[in-house]
Amino acid sequence: MTVTIFVPRDAAALALGAEKVAKAMAQEIEARGLDAKIVRNGSRGMFWLEPLVEVRTEHERIAYGPVKAGDVKGLFDAGFLEGGQHALHLGPTKDIPFLRQQTRLTFSRCGVTDPLSLDDYRHYQGFKGLENAIAMTQAQIVAQVTDSGLRGRGGAGFPTGIKWKTVMDAAGPQKYIVCNADEGDSATFADRMIMEGDPFVLIEGMIIAGIATGATKGYVYIRSEYPHAIATMTEAVEIARAAGILGPSVMGSMHAFDMEIRSGAGAYVCGEETSLLNSLEGKRGIVRAKPPLPALQGFLGRPTVVNNVISLASVPVIMDRGAAFYRDFGMGRSRGTIPIQIAGNVKYGGLYETAFGLSLGEIVDHIGGGTATGRPVKAVQVGGPLGAYFPRALFDTPFDYEAFAARDGLIGHAGITVFDDSADMLKQARFAMEFCAIESCGKCTPCRIGSTRGVETADKIRQGIEPEKNKALLADLCNTMKFGSLCALGGFTPYPVMSAMNHFPEDFSPAPMVEAAE
Ligand SMILES: Cc1cc2nc3c(=O)[nH]c(=O)nc-3n(C[C@H](O)[C@H](O)[C@H](O)COP(=O)(O)O)c2cc1C
Ligand code: SF4
Repeated sequence: MTVTIFVPRDAAALALGAEKVAKAMAQEIEARGLDAKIVRNGSRGMFWLEPLVEVRTEHERIAYGPVKAGDVKGLFDAGFLEGGQHALHLGPTKDIPFLRQQTRLTFSRCGVTDPLSLDDYRHYQGFKGLENAIAMTQAQIVAQVTDSGLRGRGGAGFPTGIKWKTVMDAAGPQKYIVCNADEGDSATFADRMIMEGDPFVLIEGMIIAGIATGATKGYVYIRSEYPHAIATMTEAVEIARAAGILGPSVMGSMHAFDMEIRSGAGAYVCGEETSLLNSLEGKRGIVRAKPPLPALQGFLGRPTVVNNVISLASVPVIMDRGAAFYRDFGMGRSRGTIPIQIAGNVKYGGLYETAFGLSLGEIVDHIGGGTATGRPVKAVQVGGPLGAYFPRALFDTPFDYEAFAARDGLIGHAGITVFDDSADMLKQARFAMEFCAIESCGKCTPCRIGSTRGVETADKIRQGIEPEKNKALLADLCNTMKFGSLCALGGFTPYPVMSAMNHFPEDFSPAPMVEAAE
């Protein structure tokens, strides 16, 4: 029987040498005349173990990692094809605690299948949700997505079903589904992992969105820094089209839906939906005033659903297993599961899909294993560059949209960046302002000018120039930006700045010698 070996093709694994490992494996198979084949799967999301190589034995998949090309010969010598013992042997993949404790709904296939195999996709429940959707009315699909409690995973947490209903109810000869795959937040990689590891789930979600709203055309806007995701998605779209899943008659039904992949040129603000639409239209990526909502006048002025990759990729399981199944996970108004991305100075970095409700402390200390440096955790930034810094005193905050908002934070795209006690929070506050100054689209004054003034003010605090006055000025500036900015780039930059100042006041005191000189 041919033995199957899995070597990831995910960008994180490639960055750590997966290509060389795959080549060394192929050479070894040939040299030894073995009956084995290599499948290039997605990542399981345990980055400290990448490249994570698996072998399918008679009963289960056995993991080895992190594997270097130089380890390959030794693995074969140790009877790796039969799951043999070796220093890199991790046991059955499904039993690795980081994976075993997860609830993988959206990421159920990621790392399991060959991302470009339709047979694999179908074998693991693929297209079941779409089949159900085809048999339903538009209103029934929208109702199911609404009832599931799914909220946008791109950052704002807006209910997906309500957005879809607005587009469904809008009149127009042409409507669009635009998938936001700009994924600009620090510490985030969930979109990339899905696009590289299970692209058909995104395609399926987009087709369902199209059928539900009456849109026949879709675009995936992917950041140019994701060449592997762009290549995988492009190939997946071609495969789906050739198989009649995309095209004038989706899976032989009366519904038409086709889609294209577009790449952005690299601007954080192009992840903001209206800026993204401008960019997609070939214009400068500048934010549009709302109203009109993109749902009514979006791409080329037509009704448009703009949804994040994970929002759309979560729809197939909802349509397959039902709204109640999905809604059963989570807490409060945060229903279902969320792929938490753990990064920064952390021992076990990676993707952890789980129901909403885990506390921040559980995520950082137990799942992430604390810092990689072994020093105490000082702060955790949740929600990307616009998210607040949480001190250990707030580690009891449950992962829930409302609970984070109540503590002046946000979940955003669920990326968390861990910092140890060597972090300088004034420097981090300055960085937030600097980031905003660089990435501002320039349309409104509080953001464009305020962020530059913010950098200058942080520098004055650092230099000990009238520190109390300048701290008050920085807080005042934050208020102006928070309430006066047109979009969340200027509006949320105050979150990291104010949280740093409020939770770590000691870092905002000038050096005593400078104070004495005043
Ligand atoms: C500055 C800025 C950057 C953003 N970047 C992203 C992004 O990279 N990906 C994303 O899905 N949403 C991003 N958003 C949120 C989008 O504007 C929008 O809310 C989202 O795409 C809607 O999809 P959802 O409802 O599925 O979350 C960003 C918002 C702002 C203000
Ligand atoms: S807040 Fe900043 S990014 Fe947003 S519209 Fe204003 S200038 Fe542009």
